[in-house]
Amino acid sequence: MTLEQEPSPESALSQESAGDLLRAMLKHSVLAPSGHNTQPWLFKLSSKNSLDLMADRTRALPVVDPYDRELTISCGAALDHLEVAASHYGQALKVFLSPNPSEPDILARVNLINGAPENLDDLFRAIPKRRTTRAKFDNRTLPDELTERCQAVVEEFGVALDLITDSEKRLSIADLVAEGDRIQFADPSFRRELAAWVHSRRRASQDGMSGEGFGMPDVLSPIGALVIRTFDIGKGVAAGDRDKIVEGSPTLAVFSSTDDSVCSWIQTGRALSRVLLTLAANEVTSSYLNPPVELAELRPRLQTMVRTGGVPQLLMRFGYGPSPSPTVRRVIEQVIVD
Ligand SMILES: Cc1cc2nc3c(=O)[nH]c(=O)nc-3n(C[C@H](O)[C@H](O)[C@H](O)COP(=O)(O)O)c2cc1C
Repeated sequence: MTLEQEPSPESALSQESAGDLLRAMLKHSVLAPSGHNTQPWLFKLSSKNSLDLMADRTRALPVVDPYDRELTISCGAALDHLEVAASHYGQALKVFLSPNPSEPDILARVNLINGAPENLDDLFRAIPKRRTTRAKFDNRTLPDELTERCQAVVEEFGVALDLITDSEKRLSIADLVAEGDRIQFADPSFRRELAAWVHSRRRASQDGMSGEGFGMPDVLSPIGALVIRTFDIGKGVAAGDRDKIVEGSPTLAVFSSTDDSVCSWIQTGRALSRVLLTLAANEVTSSYLNPPVELAELRPRLQTMVRTGGVPQLLMRFGYGPSPSPTVRRVIEQVIVD
C-alpha cells in the first residue's frame, strides 16, 4: 500500500482493517526526522490496536550521541508523527512512556482508541512536506502568531522553546556553533561516523544522508563521504555555519527540558515533531545546529544563553527557505518486528 492508497478516514475501522490502518499510520510515522537519517526505531505490533515503539540501538551514533539522547529524541518524533496520523484516521493514542524499566529499549507502549480528540489534519498534510533545509533562509522573521503557537505546543510536552531573534545573541550562538564544528571535525572518529551515513539515495539501505542535502548531486555522495572521512574540514564547516546563522537565520530556536532523562528526551522529540509540522504547515522550514548541545564542554555555555532555563536538547534555526528533495526511508516491513 502506498501513501496515496491509504484507507480513507471514514472507512477506517468499520472495515475492520485495523492492521492496514496501523500500517498506514506507520508509513507516516517513519517520515519523522532522525539524526543522520538513521531511522533508529522499531515497532512491535502486539495486537491490532496496540504496539511498542522500540529503540533500534544497532543504529546508534556512539561518537556524536554516546548516551542515545538524540536517538531517543528521534524516536519521540516518530511517536508524535504516529499520533498526528492516528488522528487523521479517527484514532487517539494512549501512550505509556518507558513502560517497563527492565526493558529499556521499549520507549513507549501505545494503545489506539477510537475517536480523535482534535482535528490535526493540517499537521497530517504537513508530514510529507516537512524537510530539513541546510541552505540559508530569507531574512523574514516568523509571524508572532506562529511563534506563539509553537511555544504553546511544546508546553503540552513539558518542554520549553526559546526563540532568539536578537542579532547580538545570534552572533554569540554562531560563535559557539563554529567552535563546536571545529572540535567535532578535528576528531577522526566523529568524521568516520558521519561519513558512514553519507551515501547515495540509491543505496539499498534506504537511510542516511545523500550529498543532495548538502548541495551536491546525489552521485557525488561517495566523494562527499570520502572528503568528510579524510580531511579535517572543520574550519570550512564552522565558517559556513557562522555565515548561515548571521546572514540566513533570522530565528534560532532552543528546545530545553527539565532534565536529561529518557522520558524528557522522548517528550522533546514529540515537541520537536509538533513544532516542525506546525511550521511546515505554514511553509516554514528548519535546520539543526547541534554541536553546542552534543559537546559536554559547550552545553553549559549554551544553557546560560537560553532565557527559558532548563537543559538544552536541540539548537535549530527556523525560517523561509528552499525545499530540498525528500530524504529516503526504509519500507515499514523493515521496521516492524514480531
Ligand atoms: C535529534 C536530531 C538531531 C539532528 N541533528 C542534525 C545535525 O546536527 N545536523 C544536521 O544537519 N541535521 C541534523 N538532523 C537532521 C537529520 O539529518 C534529518 O532529519 C534526516 O537527514 C532526515 O531528513 P529530513 O529531516 O529532511 O526528513 C537531526 C535530526 C534529529 C531528529
